[in-house]
Amino acid sequence: MPENKFEEIGLEYATRMVNSGPVIMISAAYGNERAVMTVAWNMPVQKSPPLIAIAIGTKHHTTGIIEQSGEFIINIPGHEILDVVKYCGSVSGHRESKFESGKFDTTMGKIVYAPVLSGVMGIIECKVARTVNMGDHGIYLGRAVRCAARKGCFHEVWKVSEGKAQLIHHLGGSYFYNPKP
Ligand SMILES: Cc1cc2nc3c(=O)[nH]c(=O)nc-3n(C[C@H](O)[C@H](O)[C@H](O)COP(=O)(O)O)c2cc1C
Repeated sequence: MPENKFEEIGLEYATRMVNSGPVIMISAAYGNERAVMTVAWNMPVQKSPPLIAIAIGTKHHTTGIIEQSGEFIINIPGHEILDVVKYCGSVSGHRESKFESGKFDTTMGKIVYAPVLSGVMGIIECKVARTVNMGDHGIYLGRAVRCAARKGCFHEVWKVSEGKAQLIHHLGGSYFYNPKP
C-alpha cells in the first residue's frame, strides 16, 4: 500500500474534495479505541466555514467513537484500495478490530486525533459542528480544520482527467461506477 505523501490543501477547497460525492472512509479515535467505516452518504454543505455532512447509522462502532470524541477524519480513497473500502464497509468494529486485520496501515491526523489510512488520496480533518438525529441514522456536520492530498493529485479539483486521481463512486449494493480517465 502506498505511503501517504501529502501536501497541504487550502480549507477553501474542502468542499471541492467531496464535490462529486465520492465514497469516503470515516475514521475516529477516543482514548485507546480506533474506528473506521466506509461512507457513501456525504455532501458538501457550506464553503465558509467549510462544512461537510455525513449520514451514518447510530449503531455503528465508528458513530459511537465520534459521539465521544466530537471529531473525525474523512479519508478519500482511490480505486487502488477498493478492497480496503469494501472491507471497512462490511465488517463492524463491534465484532473485530479492522486495524489488526493487516489489510491497511495508519498514521494519525495532525489536528484531529483519528487514524489516517495509508494509501488514501486525501484527507479532511473535521470537528463535529452539529448533529441531527434522524432515527436509525444521524447526520454529522463536520467543520473542516485541515485538508491534505497526495502530491500532484489535487489542484483546485481532483486531477481525474489526467488519470492521477481515481475517486470511487457507489451505485448501491455491490455496484461501483468505475470511470476510466
Ligand atoms: C460502499 C459502501 C458505502 C457505505 N455507506 C454507508 C453510509 O453512507 N452510511 C452508513 O451508515 N453506512 C454505510 N456503509 C456501511 C458501513 O460502512 C458498515 O456497516 C460498517 O461495517 C460499519 O462499521 P463500524 O461498525 O465498524 O463503524 C457503507 C458500506 C459500503 C460497502
